[in-house]
Amino acid sequence: MITRITRSPRVASRLLGAGGVVAFPTETVYGLGADVFRPDAVEAIFRAKGRPQDNPLIVHVADTDQLARVAAQITPAAQLAMEAFFPGPLTVIVPRHPDLPLAVTAGLDTVGVRSPNHPVAQAFLRECDCPVAAPSANRSGRPSPTTWQAVSEELDGRVDAILKGGSSPIGLESTVIDCSRSCPVILRSGGISFEQLREVLPRIQLATGAVESEPARSPGMNHRHYAPTAQVQVVSGPHEVPPDQAATSAYIGLVGEGFTVKPHRVCVCTDLAEYARQLFRFFRTCEKAGVTRIYCQQVPETGLGHALMDRIRRAAEG
Ligand code: TXA
Ligand code: MG
Repeated sequence: MITRITRSPRVASRLLGAGGVVAFPTETVYGLGADVFRPDAVEAIFRAKGRPQDNPLIVHVADTDQLARVAAQITPAAQLAMEAFFPGPLTVIVPRHPDLPLAVTAGLDTVGVRSPNHPVAQAFLRECDCPVAAPSANRSGRPSPTTWQAVSEELDGRVDAILKGGSSPIGLESTVIDCSRSCPVILRSGGISFEQLREVLPRIQLATGAVESEPARSPGMNHRHYAPTAQVQVVSGPHEVPPDQAATSAYIGLVGEGFTVKPHRVCVCTDLAEYARQLFRFFRTCEKAGVTRIYCQQVPETGLGHALMDRIRRAAEG
């Protein structure tokens, strides 16, 4: 398969309309999309990524009309969350519309919906004229791509097209919240923080540790995630980076002073938002530079820091 690279939302939407699989930019990370009502195209997403069949896809919508085609019901908590954060880096899980193919939700009776806050994504979704199922546009288990070049490295020859946009301004995936039951729960931390959500949904809880006890609730969280080829290790600061393998190691964090020996590659970020934006990109740069160990500075787990530490830990485990 030849992967077409385009800047045109219209060209990309036509390829999707013809049953193709198309990568597109969002404010969090790049997604790999297909028409939700074409099970063959949805199936092709799983093949291109090598994604386990039991891991449901998020559905991307441009507006409430598209939302009504995939959701059976917008619960009161979902309504509040959507009013506050759509379009934005939030995925809301609600009861699935009976017409939505089960291939999209991996057999679940719920569906995750999101409206990305990105001009190219919005233009693309409007042109598509159908809800678009899209996981992150990486091979399964790999870090999410935040540039079209990274998508190309992961999926060239395996997808029909890549819609070009700039680099994703947030750089980490959306927050996933389950609003299908009586009490809203955060299944994955991301671009909208716990603190922001709590202002709108005071009863919302973090599902920390709920992964093992409740495997069906968020199947994706059981799978290996976000792992670069290099080994990732959490450190409290540059002073904790060992000097011995400096030539093949790298460091990313907020503090850039205090190394015994400076590693081969160092990325010092001005704030949490920049750290989040750079993380997955830095992993990829390091891979290409032959780095074998990446030291990531620990940050307090408040605001975006919660999602950042979640991704760093998953990468370290991988
Ligand atoms: O920012 C994002 O969310 C990006 C962009 C492209 O929108 N997408 C993304 O998709 O990260 P993906 O498939 O890589 O991660 C979606 C997560 C998975 O862990 C999946 O298991 C979970 O959301 N999920 C999706 N639908 C669900 C559902 N109905 N119930 C529980 N978890 C669900
Ligand atoms: Mg993913």
